[in-house]
Amino acid sequence: MQSKMEVLISREQIADGVARIGQEITRDYAGESVILLGVLRGACLFLADLARQIELDATFDFIAVRSYGTKKESVGEVQLIKDATDPLENKNVILVEDILDTGLTFTFLRKLLLARRPRTLKLAALLDKPSRRQMPVEADYVGFKIPDKFVVGYGLDYAERFRNLPDICVFSEDAGK
Ligand code: IMP
Ligand code: MG
Repeated sequence: MQSKMEVLISREQIADGVARIGQEITRDYAGESVILLGVLRGACLFLADLARQIELDATFDFIAVRSYGTKKESVGEVQLIKDATDPLENKNVILVEDILDTGLTFTFLRKLLLARRPRTLKLAALLDKPSRRQMPVEADYVGFKIPDKFVVGYGLDYAERFRNLPDICVFSEDAGK
């Protein structure tokens, strides 16, 4: 199925980008502990690989959101469907996201999480589509800035499919058949 799609970021490039973010986080939080808070479901592969590139005392937690809209577009309404389990107060929280697109999801999550008074809150996003932004937010750690193309693979889906592709590909309708 991947053979019908154009590879935008290969598995080797992904590994390099993830290693670089891991080094940045290791350096920025030297001597401290971090909570890696993954946003389900898209961030699960990124979190698994990133965690192994971070040489710090780290724990994992997960949060899940749903944004209503079509298969490709999220709309303004973001809903929390699974909350974090651990207390975040006075902790270094790194929110781990597959992609920062319009910024609506991060804007929603940032407000929710800041209310819990973490010591620090940062966003690590594997991908960033700056041209699509509707809210004035940026990620602290970015793997790759990409053009306005809908991508799948390495955790990213189209209607829940293609998350298991090892490379990040530009989605094409043909491949969905
Ligand atoms: P935002 O709220 O628009 O920033 O959207 C973030 C969410 O939209 C991501 O966590 C993804 O689930 C989804 N999304 C945005 N762009 C893409 C894409 O190109 N492929 C797959 N999912 C995407
Ligand atoms: Mg999605």
